[in-house]
Amino acid sequence: MAGKVCMVTGANSGIGKITALALAKRGATVVMVCRSRERGESAQREVVAESGNDKVDLLLADLSSMASARAMVDAFKAKYDRLNVLVNNAGALFAERQESVDGLEMTFALNHMGYFLPTVLLLDTLKASAPARIINVSSGAHRAGRVDFDDLQSQRKYSSFPVYAKSKLENVLFTVELARRLEGTGVTVNALHPGFVRTNFGGNSTGNGIVTLLFRLFVKFFAISPDKGAETSIYLATSPDVEGVTGQYFDKKKAAEPASQAKNMETARRLWQESERLAGLSAPR
Ligand SMILES: NC(=O)c1ccc[n+]([C@@H]2O[C@H](COP(=O)([O-])OP(=O)(O)OC[C@H]3O[C@@H](n4cnc5c(N)ncnc54)[C@H](OP(=O)(O)O)[C@@H]3O)[C@@H](O)[C@H]2O)c1
Repeated sequence: MAGKVCMVTGANSGIGKITALALAKRGATVVMVCRSRERGESAQREVVAESGNDKVDLLLADLSSMASARAMVDAFKAKYDRLNVLVNNAGALFAERQESVDGLEMTFALNHMGYFLPTVLLLDTLKASAPARIINVSSGAHRAGRVDFDDLQSQRKYSSFPVYAKSKLENVLFTVELARRLEGTGVTVNALHPGFVRTNFGGNSTGNGIVTLLFRLFVKFFAISPDKGAETSIYLATSPDVEGVTGQYFDKKKAAEPASQAKNMETARRLWQESERLAGLSAPR
């Protein structure tokens, strides 16, 4: 990975931090995208110390805000003219319905638009750096997801897990549509399920009663380590085995069959168009 530029979002914690560390250990230039300066700088120091690689950069962005995501991409482009690997990883589950600064439902804003917008804005750089790879950290939870275009912002009905599952389905739909659009460019895009991982995930749903409590207990006893959870992200970012492989969903470093609703190209196309509209973009079709 020496000589390659890699960006990892949500890189100060959990799966993202281990992914950033693994890329740094392999000699890549790593750009860690974090929302908190304090947590970001602390993770950056750790990654530099543990990897012995000082080409580890930090960019700050609240990826639930489109202005902040745009500013992060501008800051990246001002400094780098190449991007070989983009790992879209920052995500969360929100117990109560919240809205982003852009008026979008927060899970959609962070977990979907927080992948979609930076990626689309970075496509020119990724294409110019080909071969390049985009990795979207989704979840097996996508299987429980449904996309209802009449209620994309979950205004009528909000329940944290179904809305989270929908956002992880959107990650796979985004992957298959982007793969179609990137055909022949040398830029690949794949989605993955990291496993059930012991991270800070769900930490922002503090005080949400029995569901949160059961979730925490389940994590304590059944979840895998962040090192194990990051394996598929690292594999997709680095392995020669997946050179040229695109539009796939991976689980335990193997291509797996996603849910049938994740392969609906009409839904994927419509989600793309709606996301472009919300972001005020018009990317080439
Ligand atoms: N853990 C699991 O079992 C599991 C299973 C399937 C899929 N996943 C997926 O794995 C990915 C990583 O999650 P994780 O388990 O490693 O959880 P985590 O430890 O909570 O890491 C999430 C990362 O996202 C960042 N983040 C949250 N909100 C953000 C925002 N508004 N702007 C920018 N960054 C933000 C967090 O930053 P802060 O530290 O500042 O909050 C943190 O760095 C997520 O996409 C999640 O859906 C996890």
